[in-house]
Amino acid sequence: MLPDWDTALAALGRRLGPKGVAHSVRVAETAAQIASAYGVDSEAARIAGLLHDWCKDVAGEELLQAAETRGLPVTDVDAAVPYLLHSAVGAEEVREAFPGIDESVVQAIAAHTYGSECMSPVDMVVYVADTIEPGRSHTSARELREAIGKVPLTELFTRTYAESLRHLIDTRRRIHPNTTAMWNRLVGGECL
Ligand SMILES: [Fe+2]
Ligand SMILES: [Fe+2]
Repeated sequence: MLPDWDTALAALGRRLGPKGVAHSVRVAETAAQIASAYGVDSEAARIAGLLHDWCKDVAGEELLQAAETRGLPVTDVDAAVPYLLHSAVGAEEVREAFPGIDESVVQAIAAHTYGSECMSPVDMVVYVADTIEPGRSHTSARELREAIGKVPLTELFTRTYAESLRHLIDTRRRIHPNTTAMWNRLVGGECL
């Protein structure tokens, strides 16, 4: 089941401020466009894009608690940067907020920060859309936008993921163990 747009948007508006909602709407629209270019389920991508930051405004302490209560893995990096948990906790909370929602949507939300064991096409589409939605003005976002439909989806995702990694290094941030594991799977050609 996919919730209808208006219901999902109204629910999101009770959780995020106007900037967060505007970003989410742009991600939803971008995800639908990328999905169409690759023959991926664009309605699932649109709703996952809309709901991907469901827990973005939840305080770090609360995210840590929610992750622990739900038995989600909490690494040292998550403990240091609890914001990273907004994807995993968000996925669980969206499943509860919209009973019966497609697991493909829940999965894409869970995978939008550092990927997942196996990236589905919808997961990749939402990850890319979050990075290149029209509100992102960096040069790499423009280059990635131009590549939509011209390179395979896995290549578009790999380029996007590489950008995220470079950004973490350039800004001297911690790299989550799931991120290095994801990168190793990507370049090893595993599980895409
Ligand atoms: Fe996010
Ligand atoms: Fe986002």
